[in-house]
Amino acid sequence: MNKETKNIPDVTSCGQSSSWLYNDTVKEHFLNPRNILINDTQHESDGIGIVGSPACGDMMVVWIKVDKDSERITECVWRTFGCASAIASTSMMSVMATENGGMTLRDAKRLSPEAILDRLGGLPDRKYHCSVLGHQALREAVLDFETNHAKQ
Ligand code: FES
Repeated sequence: MNKETKNIPDVTSCGQSSSWLYNDTVKEHFLNPRNILINDTQHESDGIGIVGSPACGDMMVVWIKVDKDSERITECVWRTFGCASAIASTSMMSVMATENGGMTLRDAKRLSPEAILDRLGGLPDRKYHCSVLGHQALREAVLDFETNHAKQ
């Protein structure tokens, strides 16, 4: 690496100023992530989803609890080694999964990264793949629940 390319940030703000590139909602969820598991690596759950991003090697784990009668998500806890964008988007995903009495399993499987980005107010284009981690792990957790609790 030569001197000219050393320490050039991968994402820069348009004006090269010290202001944040992320909007206030993204910053808020990054600095105060909802439903994140900080100190433990395991969590009691009805379903678990684990995914890794092939783009950067970051991992995401989502644990869900489900009300079996209504088939709604009552808890959505997560943990990641991902970046600020992954933390903010998964925090928002966990809010969306549990608000208003909990998302149905059907809707959770249909949740798109675009819906999460819409609630976040957007991310820089090259950070789109970070928003995919949480929604993929949620889908895996739902599939895990359905496999383990298949109706007889
Ligand atoms: Fe890897 Fe964002 S750069 S999760």
